[in-house]
Amino acid sequence: MTNEQQAITEAVRERYGAIAAQVAADQPAGCCGTTSCCENAQANPISANLYAVDELEGVPLKATLASLGCGNPTALTELRPGEVVLDLGSGGGIDVLLSARRVGPTGLVYGLDMTDEMLDLARRNAEEAGVTNVIWLKGDIGAIPLPDASVDVVISNCVINLASDKQPVFHEAFRVLKPGGRFAVSDIVIHDGLPSSIGDGLALRRDLSAWAGCIAGALTDAEYRAGLAAAGFSAINLEITRRYSVADLGAAQTYWTQQYDAALVADIAGRFASTFVRAIKPDPAGV
Ligand SMILES: C[S@@+](CC[C@H](N)C(=O)[O-])C[C@H]1O[C@@H](n2cnc3c(N)ncnc32)[C@H](O)[C@@H]1O
Repeated sequence: MTNEQQAITEAVRERYGAIAAQVAADQPAGCCGTTSCCENAQANPISANLYAVDELEGVPLKATLASLGCGNPTALTELRPGEVVLDLGSGGGIDVLLSARRVGPTGLVYGLDMTDEMLDLARRNAEEAGVTNVIWLKGDIGAIPLPDASVDVVISNCVINLASDKQPVFHEAFRVLKPGGRFAVSDIVIHDGLPSSIGDGLALRRDLSAWAGCIAGALTDAEYRAGLAAAGFSAINLEITRRYSVADLGAAQTYWTQQYDAALVADIAGRFASTFVRAIKPDPAGV
């Protein structure tokens, strides 16, 4: 890891550690942290209203308050009884708890996160929910602490955009999936790339605070497809689940408005979308 990647990872860890502490103290949080646009997951355009009310029955309040995703991967993918699921960046555990219910007592769900405070919160939430078919793992999604071909489905909710280096994440997801296994991830994706007038967009993507707030680390749709294909995935499919405007981005736009004129900011904002990304690890036996 380069120094810059390390700094990004530490900034992300610090951000989500603070959010977990906030939720543990009974305050709701949101995808973009503790200030302005997303101070409240229910008020924030990215994380609000992702789950149906009846789906959340039996899920502890603090798992719901700590819901920091940008989609609902468990609703968008088929999970079968007995399957093994891995959630990359499991946060307060909402998708782990929902998946655990779907795979049932013969199935197993791993929640992987690098932030101690989030893992503590998730453990307490699972205990409160009485869910036992889950295992919490501490680690980085770019170096998954599981053996090869040990998982049926990899899910993730608004985390891969935070990774300072995405390609190891795709390779690791591919490695731990069984042949025929499914990658089923919600993430923020930049559709049709960034406007050519801002060059390669590196300045935007490198802004640490924007990065930790979900936005500037996003891949373009073409990069997502290429990264997954390079890892070996097939049947790659990206489906937009929620689009955003400048108004939706709230505080995240302050960074951009300092850098670009209003028309360009609006253009950039319109290209970001919550997206459900599906792919399959091919099964050479064709089963
Ligand atoms: C935006 S939150 C999403 C949490 C959860 N998926 C949800 O939907 O509520 C991001 C989570 O990913 C974790 N995370 C970010 N980067 C990570 C990495 N490189 N490795 C492991 N966990 C990471 C953070 O600690 C945080 O809990």
